[in-house]
Amino acid sequence: ADGDAALGKKVFNRCIACHEAATERDKVGPHLLGVVGRTAGTAESFLGHYSQAMKDAGAAGLVWDEANLAVYLHAPKLKVPGNKMAFAGLSNDADIANVIAYLKADPKP
Ligand code: HEM
Repeated sequence: ADGDAALGKKVFNRCIACHEAATERDKVGPHLLGVVGRTAGTAESFLGHYSQAMKDAGAAGLVWDEANLAVYLHAPKLKVPGNKMAFAGLSNDADIANVIAYLKADPKP
């Protein structure tokens, strides 16, 4: 189901300690501006910081389309074993759909 970007902005409060979505500024994690459709592990400015697991996933063809993002956000360690994102995931399907809608909207600050 399509998510609600406005509700997703609130869900993103659980990500914002580590991710910026509205600019290309990296934090502990890579910036997520334009992440929907991006190949995993390829944000230019974060190349020196990704885990080998995340870079390998991208090299093997993982693209952050909506379906793959949904699986990753539900269980990050299952979707990309060995990745270093210290986040257990989101258990609520509506939260996942909404935060993806927010990311997809290319959020402004
Ligand atoms: C990686 C989303 C929460 C730290 C990623 C990636 C996505 C993502 C899509 C892959 C990016 C890429 O391949 O370029 C999210 C969302 C979150 C969230 C939507 C909230 C629901 C967090 C939190 C932290 C974090 C709370 C820090 C405690 C990281 C790190 C990576 C990463 C370090 C790189 C992982 C690696 O290279 O193995 N995140 N994240 N994330 N995230 Fe998050």
